[in-house]
Amino acid sequence: MTIFDACARPLHSVRISVIDRCNLRCTYCMPAEVFGKDYPFLPASKLLSFDEIERLTRIFASLGVRKIRLTGGEPLLRKGLTKLVERLLNIKDIEDVSITTNGLLLGVYAARLAKAGLKRINVSLDSLNPQIFGRMNGRNVSVEKVLSSIEKAAEQGLKIKINMVVQKGINDGEILEMAKFCYDHDYTLRFIEYMDVGNTNSWELSQVFPNREILKILKQHYEIIPVSDMEMGEVAKRYKYKGTHKEIGFISSVTEPFCSGCNRLRISADGKLYTCLFASQGKDLRHLLQKGSDEELKQMISTIWQMRKDQYSNERGSMVNNKSKIEMSYIGG
Ligand code: GTP
Ligand code: 5AD
Ligand code: SF4
Ligand code: SF4
Repeated sequence: MTIFDACARPLHSVRISVIDRCNLRCTYCMPAEVFGKDYPFLPASKLLSFDEIERLTRIFASLGVRKIRLTGGEPLLRKGLTKLVERLLNIKDIEDVSITTNGLLLGVYAARLAKAGLKRINVSLDSLNPQIFGRMNGRNVSVEKVLSSIEKAAEQGLKIKINMVVQKGINDGEILEMAKFCYDHDYTLRFIEYMDVGNTNSWELSQVFPNREILKILKQHYEIIPVSDMEMGEVAKRYKYKGTHKEIGFISSVTEPFCSGCNRLRISADGKLYTCLFASQGKDLRHLLQKGSDEELKQMISTIWQMRKDQYSNERGSMVNNKSKIEMSYIGG
């Protein structure tokens, strides 16, 4: 069974945030001056339980979803996450479960995650330069810590993707070095355009470093060719280094929006369903999770998807800075 939204986009993938807290304060996501000591994070009692997440995932699978990504905040801060990964991987029809992490705790959990059946992981890493990385992560955390964690995950056989958010004037001088590092280590690097998610990062268009400029820079040093076998609804435009199996990708939500193929739903850590990363409001599933049947939940989710018309990135121009949006750390990117 596949369900389609009002723009004929199929529901294929779900991103589930398991916690809204993070151990970093990246300036483009959770600026420290906003996400301080007094920030009202969700109490543990408000987080969806693993039973609820597993139940929802089974319902999504029955609606045609094949791909689940666990996000946060920082998902590895959620106690017992490895167990959840194992439970979701055991659901019939779920073909792909992955995690997006900042990598800080990955060294601790890599072996357990691999044992649970995880095959791949996406790690955020914006610079290899200790000063720049320390500044961007808002807590002066050392890049070495993340690098050694990534290495441990690779040693466990996990396929690694590195997400680098590029901000003009901040880390755009790091592009080539990061590309070389990822090439040498056989990690797939994706450049991400800085996005106007949430309402706290003071985003300005002038801080976006367009991915086509990055492509130009790379082409001066490497022979890279577009990959044609794009997966359905993929956010990254993929390229291969000629003559190798190594890939590099570009996520260009600002300069080349990909809303027309957007096949993903999002669940916040407290069980609200969002149909777009830039949504203002979600539908609370909590009540039905507690009191309703699977059939009622399925009906509700189908109805919401079938009415969906979101295409924020296509329409961004008219809405920048005058729309109230959920925070990325709450909905998980
Ligand atoms: P793969 O399955 O490995 O391709 O993962 P992914 O790229 O979908 O997930 P990841 O969490 O690594 O996200 C990478 C970047 O893409 C993040 O900056 C996300 O916020 C962004 N992103 C993911 N999905 C969407 C989307 O639907 N819309 C927009 N605008 N950005 C997205
Ligand atoms: N713009 C682009 N990407 C962002 N991320 C977090 N905030 C932003 C933003 N404002 C990225 C993180 C992580 C992924 C989930 O989203 O770096 O890799
Ligand atoms: Fe945390 Fe990721 Fe946001 Fe950085 S981008 S503050 S690591 S959730
Ligand atoms: Fe999908 Fe919204 Fe992102 Fe467009 S902006 S790709 S509709 S999540």
